[in-house]
Amino acid sequence: MELRKINTRDAYAQWEFTSAQPEDENGFTNKYSGVSYGEYVEKVLPEMIGHEHPVGMPDWFVPQSYYYLWDGGRLIGEFRIRHYLTEALRNGSGHIGYCIRKEMRGKGYGTAGLKLTLDIARKIVPENEIYLSVNKNNAASKKVMLKNGAYTAAEDDGHYYMRIPK
Ligand SMILES: CC(C)(COP(=O)(O)OP(=O)(O)OC[C@H]1O[C@@H](n2cnc3c(N)ncnc32)[C@H](O)[C@@H]1OP(=O)(O)O)[C@@H](O)C(=O)NCCC(=O)NCCS
Repeated sequence: MELRKINTRDAYAQWEFTSAQPEDENGFTNKYSGVSYGEYVEKVLPEMIGHEHPVGMPDWFVPQSYYYLWDGGRLIGEFRIRHYLTEALRNGSGHIGYCIRKEMRGKGYGTAGLKLTLDIARKIVPENEIYLSVNKNNAASKKVMLKNGAYTAAEDDGHYYMRIPK
């Protein structure tokens, strides 16, 4: 099992994953849902790769890196790292977002993928803790976080705000 940063060689598998993911699943957003392969290669992939070193993006946009979890030659899921917190991220979605492809859920990939992502995030993120948030009705994702050392730092009506010490 390995995490690979988004790249042009894996374009087809990345497109298959991204185009099939809905626009929002439990707060994991995807504005490229349903995109064609042609548009993915021409526009979306360069845009996503560019998010790591944003140019011409609005002030609120924080550098974001996309990683894919691979196992046995198969792309299993996506893990995103936002490099530092803004006020909105601190009180919202935090540093890391993730999604495992539907048919591969419940096999431990979410837990294993977050562990690998934390290894990278710990080197990037300047804050003392890694921030994550989860919808209160998303028990699987909360468990993924808890199994990676998270504690519940705060909550509101719909979310738990979780943190993992660095
Ligand atoms: C949340 C998600 C990433 C979990 O990935 P996964 O690969 O299924 O997670 P794991 O297999 O590592 O399971 C983690 C734990 O959750 C448990 N779990 C799985 N589905 C569950 C469910 N519906 N209710 C309660 N617990 C559940 C598992 O049993 C496991 O616990 P265990 O090890 O004690 O058995 C995946 O469901 C997903 O991609 N969901 C859609 C997007 C999303 O919600 N992203 C997170 C936003 S915060």
